[in-house]
Amino acid sequence: MQKKSEIYRGKSKTVYCTEKKDFLIINFRDDISANNGMTIQKFDGKGKINNKINYFIMTTLQNNGIKSHIEKQISDSEILVKNLKMIPIECVLRNRSAGSLVKRINIKEGIILNPPIFEMFLKSDIVNDPMINESYCETFGWANKHHIMTMKYLTHKINNILNKLFHDIGIILVDFKIEFGLFNNEIILGDEFSPDVARLWDITNMRKLDKDIFRQNSTGIIQAYELVANRLGITFS
Ligand code: TMP
Repeated sequence: MQKKSEIYRGKSKTVYCTEKKDFLIINFRDDISANNGMTIQKFDGKGKINNKINYFIMTTLQNNGIKSHIEKQISDSEILVKNLKMIPIECVLRNRSAGSLVKRINIKEGIILNPPIFEMFLKSDIVNDPMINESYCETFGWANKHHIMTMKYLTHKINNILNKLFHDIGIILVDFKIEFGLFNNEIILGDEFSPDVARLWDITNMRKLDKDIFRQNSTGIIQAYELVANRLGITFS
């Protein structure tokens, strides 16, 4: 399938249409952003690593019964995906306290959350992606009761699969953000799963292996992302 015109440029990915309206091509760029796009930097090779990690995770999820938009990898940094009607909600799952949760309720980082916490945020840069709830979704028409129930169920199911997957390779899945969309009226996993949208800590020393390295102005982000990829068994030719 051919890449046609650009239809959306996000902070780290660009989306193109194809000659078929039901399919899109996503290009993972080397850009990384923090502070709602206020801080942006480029890291050589990041797009390629995230494309591979995302493809690996999405296909693993698919093999475990989670439908995703992924069709096939078409180059080092590009994938062909189904064209979903995206739901403008970020679903966040937390197994341990970190990030905005720590600030919101003033608790220590790293506390085990049992049961894990499910949160929803509105995808809206203008208002800084605020936390929302089911009532907001229904009132403003972002998603109906059934959509929310399904997204919550799928997010927990994805957590069960990925928690074990990462635990088996010595990584703690601290939290992650995923997005869903509709394809033929069915809720399907879209967007991406990579160290840009998850917190991953090395079990042995609690070292951060994710975008927090960039958020916290540390070094070694590419090496950390590569370590995650290598532990997942992903090879780079
Ligand atoms: P938070 O602690 O900043 O709310 O983030 C929780 C998780 O969700 C963390 O892994 C980062 C991810 N996330 C994104 O990828 N994009 C976002 O816009 C938000 C709010 C969170």
